[in-house]
Parts: sequence; C-alpha cells; structure tokens
Amino acid sequence: MRNCILVTGGAGFIGSNFVLFLLGDSDIAVLNLDKLTYAGNLHNLDSVKTDPRHQFVQGDICDRELVRSLFEAHQPRGIVHFAAESHVDRSILGPEEFIRTNISGTFALLEESRAYWEQLPETDKKKFRFLHVSTDEVYGSLQPNDPPFTEQNQYAPNSPYAASKAAADHLVRAYHHTYGLPTLASNCSNNYGPFQFPEKLIPLTILNARDRKPIPVYGDGKNVRDWLYVEDHCAALKTVLERGRPGETYNVGGSSEKTNVEVVTTICELVDEFLPDASARPRVELIKFVTDRPGHDRRYAMDANKLQSELGWKPRENFKSGLRKTVEWYLAHEQWLSTVSSGAYREWIEVQYSGR
Ligand code: NAD
Ligand code: DAU
Repeated sequence: MRNCILVTGGAGFIGSNFVLFLLGDSDIAVLNLDKLTYAGNLHNLDSVKTDPRHQFVQGDICDRELVRSLFEAHQPRGIVHFAAESHVDRSILGPEEFIRTNISGTFALLEESRAYWEQLPETDKKKFRFLHVSTDEVYGSLQPNDPPFTEQNQYAPNSPYAASKAAADHLVRAYHHTYGLPTLASNCSNNYGPFQFPEKLIPLTILNARDRKPIPVYGDGKNVRDWLYVEDHCAALKTVLERGRPGETYNVGGSSEKTNVEVVTTICELVDEFLPDASARPRVELIKFVTDRPGHDRRYAMDANKLQSELGWKPRENFKSGLRKTVEWYLAHEQWLSTVSSGAYREWIEVQYSGR
C-alpha cells in the first residue's frame, strides 16, 4: 500500500477543507474522487493545484469500475468518504439523488473497498481504514432539556437526507461486523467556515447581509444547532483516521449550541462592523421569518466526550472566533462567492424561497 488516502467528495465544503488540511499537515498523498455536482468546486483546491501529492479524478462513487480501477492503480492505505448530497431542503424537494449517492454510493465504495482489502497482505490489511463521514442528524431531534447525543443514542432520522445518511451508517457498521472491514465512523454537528456553498444558513446569511437582501429564517427561528468550525472537524477526522479503533463510531461537536436567530443576528452585526455605513439601517432589520421547513428538527447537540477522552481531540475555535474568521473570509473572497452564486444558484433560491 502507498501512503495515499482516497478522499471522496474532496471538492465540496468539508472535503476540500480536509484535503487542504491533510496536505498542509502531513506527507500523505491524496487521490480526490468527486463528481463535481452543483456543490463541488475545483476552485476550493486552487492553492494545491501544483502540489504533486494531490490528484483529482472527476467521477461518481456509484461507478464501481472506476472505483476498482482507482484502488488498483493507487493502492491507498485508506479512504475518507465525504461524497454525498448534503442539503436537507433539497432532500425534501427531491429525495431520489440522496438515495442514489448516499446509500447506493456508500454501498459501492464498501464493496470495492472490501474486494481490495481482502487481497492485501496481512500487515497491510491491519493498517487499512475506511472512514465514513456522517452527521448528528441520524439521531433525530432533542427536547430542550435533553442531554446531548452520545454514540449510544437510538437512530431516529427525520428528513430524507438524515435517513439516507443513517442507512449508509448501518451499512458501514455491518461491513465491519460481517466482513471485518476496518471501518470507522464519525457523526458531526453543523460545520461552518470557508468554501461552504451559500445554500446553507451561515454563508447564505453572509451573502444576503452583504447585499442587503432579506435574510430568510424558518419558523420562529428558535431551532438550535451545535456549530463547529470546519478546520476543527478536519482535525477530528485526521485523529479518528490515525488513532480510532476499527468498528467504532465517534461523535464530533463544538459544544456551541445557538438558536438560528442568534446566529443570523451575530452575522448581521459582524457584517455591519466590517462594511460600516452610517446612513443605512442595521442589517439585523433584514431578517425575515418565513414558512418553516417541513419536519424541521428542533434541536441538535453532540456529546464529543468519547473522542476527547479516548483520542485527545478538542476544538480550537469557539463560535465567536470561528464566525468572525468566517465572515471575514467570505467578504474577502468576492470572486469565489460570485462564481458560486450565479446561474443554477439563483434558480435554487427562486425555487426554495419565492412565495415562502
Ligand atoms: P457538500 O455538499 O458541500 O459536498 C459534497 C461533495 O460530494 C461535492 O463536492 C459533490 O460534488 C460530491 N458528490 C456528490 N455526489 C457525488 C457522487 N455521486 N460521486 C462523487 N462525488 C459526489 O457537502 P459537505 O457539507 O462538505 O458534507 C460532506 C460530508 O459531511 C457529507 O457526507 C455530509 O453528510 C457530512 N456532514 C456535513 C456536515 C455539514 O455541516 N456540512 C456536518 C456533518 C456531516
Ligand atoms: O447537523 C449537521 C448537518 O448540518 C449536516 O449533516 C448537513 O449536511 C448540513 O446541511 C447541516 O444541516 P442543517 O439543515 O442543520 O443546515 P442548514 O444550514 O440548512 O440549516 C441550519 C438551520 O437554519 C436549520 O435549523 C434550518 C435553518 N435555516 C436554513 C436555511 C438554509 C433557516 O432558518 N433559513 C434558511 O434559509
């Protein structure tokens, strides 16, 4: 085996941050397989364009022949699997692609990984790892006074997206239990940071606040999410990949629970600070409460004690410092934002928000 990791979905938000993190922090080579859907963006990887350790392949994780040929040609020592359809609202409007990529795609990767892993020499077999990147949404929704989710919580996914990720998690677990494939799984809370596509709450709010457009908040805005800066998630994943126990699941979170109204208000205040205009109204007045998301989960919170106590990971950013860095990054990357927010993006905003 080579000191190479196959990363799927490495042109998306977290995947591209992970590729940059890995190349910046180690001597590992990265083989990056991504279909480049609307959410994939090669510009996220501009800074490693000339790095010979990074190789990009445009392709679908459901294409088993392609995946097989990549295993054969590159002999990776592991796989970190991000590729997915990731937006809950899109899964409500069109679940089919979520079933295909998130469930069938994960199955295809597991089958091809198993075939590759089974023929490895014993010493390499012990070293190989399949790290599946999943979400807190598989556990369902918490009541206000419930303790955060632990790895022991029962699965109760509520959206087609969450259900597709839960199905994939079960397949990953079964491949360890039945075949002994050295799988690892991580379930993480909401990420934010550079390169997130502006269909998600934080970048959408930054973009609309910058442009003084209405900022849509679903329902009463009191739904709670547990926010984690993306680089902290990347560090957690590297820790799990290197030191996690095969067959185990690790919850990852920022211990940073915020209501959506708190999040968008803080962003408006930060954008006012970075783009001051004494003659204009405060941007918080742009907030517009709109029809709720169907089946909207009320609260998520993650208990990351297992990862902290067993593997020594802890986040470096808090929500205040991470959000300030994030707003600064978006305002400084006008070109990136204008590329991703043209064409198909405008169509999505029309479908999702008009008449809401
Ligand atoms: P994203 O939507 O930004 O990126 C997904 C990437 O996968 C894109 O580059 C896309 O082109 C690629 N992709 C989609 N279908 C593919 C296919 N069939 N074959 C190959 N590539 C394909 O997603 P993200 O927010 O970076 O999330 C990455 C992973 O992390 C997902 O598995 C998601 O469930 C999980 N996750 C996300 C969060 C979050 O807050 N964003 C939190 C926890 C877990
Ligand atoms: O919890 C982890 C999950 O976080 C990941 O698995 C998903 O891939 C990721 O998309 C994210 O899911 P959410 O649905 O929590 O993220 P989103 O940014 O879409 O929404 C965050 C909260 O803000 C949620 O309560 C819905 C609300 N919201 C969202 C949008 C897009 C609004 O109020 N207005 C909006 O316009």
